[in-house]
Amino acid sequence: MLKNKKFLVSLLFLALIMVISACGGGGGEEGSESGGDNGGNGGGETTAQGDAANGAEVYQSNCMSCHGQEGAGGSGPALQASSDYDSVIQQVKNGGGGMPAFEGQLSEQEIADVSAYIAEKVAK
Ligand code: HEC
Repeated sequence: MLKNKKFLVSLLFLALIMVISACGGGGGEEGSESGGDNGGNGGGETTAQGDAANGAEVYQSNCMSCHGQEGAGGSGPALQASSDYDSVIQQVKNGGGGMPAFEGQLSEQEIADVSAYIAEKVAK
């Protein structure tokens, strides 16, 4: 009698283990499809070299009020010393020291253009 009960319990126990492992298994076949989906990388790293001719127009409508005609200075400093394209871009994007930030106001291309205009035409 007692022996039989023990047998039954261990049978139940075994069945339980089998159910658990059946549930746990079967997951192994997924995840083998890692995509070749690298499409979205084009964004941030453009080294767009600006077009100074376009930049002149951007300058006149966005910058001249503070920096004066041809960067001669006004309420903002003269730009004749700003010959470093990269730091002009940084200043235009981030602003600071009383100058508004133009990132989001101007397109990436317009920022590149106006910076090229400053670095190439205004600064000497
Ligand atoms: C509201 C006035 C204002 C406008 C508009 C403005 N700036 Fe400025 N800008 C300033 C001031 C003020 C400074 C000085 C910031 C400082 O001293 O940190 C400055 C600094 C700069 C500098 C750095 C000059 C230096 O010698 O350190 C550059 C380059 C520059 N501006 C370019 C531009 C360009 C390009 C635009 C147009 C997209 C523009 N700014 C629009 C007010 C302005």
